[in-house]
Amino acid sequence: MNPDTPLQLLGGLTPREFMRDYWQKKPLLVRQAIPGFESPISPDELAGLALEEEVESRLVLEHGSQPWELRRGPFAEDAFSELPERDWTLLVQAVDQFVPEVAEVIEQFKFLPKWRIDDVMISFAVPGGGVGPHFDNYDVFLLQGLGKRRWQIGQVCDSESPMLQHADLKILAEFVKTEEWVLEPGDMLYLPPLLAHCGTAEDDCMTYSVGFRAPSAAEVLTHFTDFLGQFLPEEERYSDADAAPSEDPTQIQRDALERLKALLNEHMGDERLLMTWFGQYMTEPRYPERISGTEIELQDLLSNLEDGAVLIRNPSARMAWSEVGEDLVLFASGQSRLLSADLRELLKLVCSADALHIDNLGQWLGNEEASCLLVELVKQGSLEFADE
Ligand code: SIN
Ligand code: CO
Repeated sequence: MNPDTPLQLLGGLTPREFMRDYWQKKPLLVRQAIPGFESPISPDELAGLALEEEVESRLVLEHGSQPWELRRGPFAEDAFSELPERDWTLLVQAVDQFVPEVAEVIEQFKFLPKWRIDDVMISFAVPGGGVGPHFDNYDVFLLQGLGKRRWQIGQVCDSESPMLQHADLKILAEFVKTEEWVLEPGDMLYLPPLLAHCGTAEDDCMTYSVGFRAPSAAEVLTHFTDFLGQFLPEEERYSDADAAPSEDPTQIQRDALERLKALLNEHMGDERLLMTWFGQYMTEPRYPERISGTEIELQDLLSNLEDGAVLIRNPSARMAWSEVGEDLVLFASGQSRLLSADLRELLKLVCSADALHIDNLGQWLGNEEASCLLVELVKQGSLEFADE
């Protein structure tokens, strides 16, 4: 992807301009970002997904048993026939993992790291439906898939912003509208984190939200230090060799702080472990139960591929690769594997090709490290045979 080629998706901006001026900074409305876009799934199919045990879904009713009633899926077949005519919305998470045509929408966002993308949530709303004024901690691209939705944007918020008293939903107590637009199919609104917004269906409408992952500072610190801790032996401790004799034995002196800082810096600055943790964390799957491996021997895998078998990434798998020192590391659904630098092109292929088969794997099948990697990925479940 050339970062200096203007994109229709970005209203004629180049990825470089978008990243410089809008990403994480300010909203962007794009009319006909995907010209002629029509939702590849219907409202009925979306409702069907919301009946499934393994799919995360919610219904929000503005005038339910309480204002802004939240009902959590999976729903019973008759759950939708009993709903009022107006003012409710159904939200289904990670539809990209269940509907390949929805996953294709993500392909439009190749100018952003794939490991930053979380999922495509799809909402269906009847007239007046919406989830109320709120803000999200993540960037989002809101792509209109069906019908019309009025989007209003407002103030920049933070965790101190006043909220309605609500056990389950975060709805702003104040919303200061600054701009509004009515989006039609193919139109898209990019919103940076923390910007208040409120979407209301004008008619039966579907909105695709391409959402992102960004661990909070607290998550980075707690999860990374937990990870790091596994590699540190019990005997490595706070130590104070060469300390001066205490003047006042009840005082914790400044030099103790310096020793602690040195201990922290030594480990927190371990780039190899930091990259390993980060790659594993960012590729953790949303639905790990959907990634179940297949026991297979190397010879069987090779002969299957030679007989024309095709491997694809499990739709719930997340993959990324990076360099660590002289080596490469492949992250696959929360796990990592250190590999030699020769495998760079294979890693790119495994992370991005639509399918792996004898034609594109070709030479790699004769490389022991490469073929062992493929076996491991099938055993782990990140790769699977296309016809399974
Ligand atoms: C929706 O699609 O109704 C909600 C999306 C959002 O506001 O984040
Ligand atoms: Co939102």
